[in-house]
Amino acid sequence: MHSFQQLVNIYAQKFNRQHFPAEPFNLYEPADYFLSIGGKRMRPVACLMANELFGDISENTWHAADALELFHNFTLLHDDVMDNSALRRGKQTVHVRNNMNTAILSGDAMLIGAYASLNKIEASCLQQVLTIFNKTAFEVCEGQQYDMDFESRTDVSLDEYLRMITLKTSVLLACSLQIGALLGGASKYNADHLYEYGKNLGIAFQLQDDYLDCYGNVEKFGKEIGGDIKRNKKTFLLIKALETAEGETREKLKAHLSSKDENKVAKILDVFDECGVKQWAEDLKKQYAAKALSHLEKVVVTADRKKQLYDFADYLLQRDY
Ligand code: IPE
Ligand code: IPE
Ligand code: MG
Ligand code: MG
Ligand code: MG
Repeated sequence: MHSFQQLVNIYAQKFNRQHFPAEPFNLYEPADYFLSIGGKRMRPVACLMANELFGDISENTWHAADALELFHNFTLLHDDVMDNSALRRGKQTVHVRNNMNTAILSGDAMLIGAYASLNKIEASCLQQVLTIFNKTAFEVCEGQQYDMDFESRTDVSLDEYLRMITLKTSVLLACSLQIGALLGGASKYNADHLYEYGKNLGIAFQLQDDYLDCYGNVEKFGKEIGGDIKRNKKTFLLIKALETAEGETREKLKAHLSSKDENKVAKILDVFDECGVKQWAEDLKKQYAAKALSHLEKVVVTADRKKQLYDFADYLLQRDY
C-alpha cells in the first residue's frame, strides 16, 4: 500500500505531461497551460486511495482518476469566467491570459478529455462508473447555478448554502472515492460510507475555501483574497453575519453589500469580526470533519488500511492553499 503522500507524488508524475495535441494551438495550449500550473490533485488521489483499500490499484482506476482531474479542471476554467477571477494557482486564469472564448472552448476540450479517459475503462464496469460520473457532473452544474443565483440574494439560509456547496464541491470528492471503491470490488455498504466520508469532508473543505478567500495569504492560496466578498458570494461567513448582525451593524453590512466602494472588502471583514464569524466557521468545519470520520470508521477494512484516508482528511482541513 502507498501512503497518501506517495500517491500524491506518483499521481503527479503520471498526470504532469502534455494532454492535448499541438494544434490548434489556441485551443489546446491554454488547456495544457492550465493543467501544468499545479493543483493539489486531491480528487484523483482520493479515487486511488479508495481503490487501494480493497487491493492493488487497477488500470481502470488510473483512467477514472484522470477523468476526475480533467473534469475538475474544466469546472475551474469555467468557474473563473463565472466568478470573474484573474488568479488561480498563483497564475493568470485562462480568460485573462488568453481570452473569454478560449476559456470556454479549452474548458470544453477538457470536459471531452475527461470522457475520453472514462472511455478507457473496461466495458464490464464502464456503465456503473458513467452513471455515477454523469449524476455528479449534473449536480456540480446545479451547485454552480445556485452559487450564482445566490449572489443577488440576501436571504440565503444556512441549509440552502450547505446544499449549494454540497452540489458544487462535495459530490465530486464523494464520487471520486465511490468510484475508486467500486472499481476495487467494494461492497455497496463500503462504497456508500466512503461517499459520505467524501461528501462531509468536501463540505468542510469548501468551508475552509470560503475562510481562506477572506483570511488566506494570496501567495499561498494562489487566488485573489476577498474575491467572494467583492462578488457578494453567499459564503458561510456572510450568511452567518447576515443572520447574527443586529441594529446598526446589520444596516452597515447591508449598505456595504450594495456599495461599489473600493474598501468594501475591508469594511465587510470588519463586520465579520464584529459578528465573530471566524469561530462559527471553524466550529462548523470541525463538525463536518467529525461526520466524515464517523463514516470512515464504518468502512469494513482493517484499520491500518485506512490510515491514508485519515491523513488525507488532516491535510485537507489544515491546508492554507
Ligand atoms: C478549487 O478546488 C475549487 C473548490 C472546490 C474550492 P481545489 O482547491 O482542489 O483546486 P486545485 O485543483 O488544488 O487548484
Ligand atoms: C468552485 O467554488 C466550485 C467549482 C469550481 C465547481 P469556488 O468558486 O469557491 O472555487 P474557487 O475559490 O474559485 O476555487
Ligand atoms: Mg471561483
Ligand atoms: Mg465559483
Ligand atoms: Mg472559493
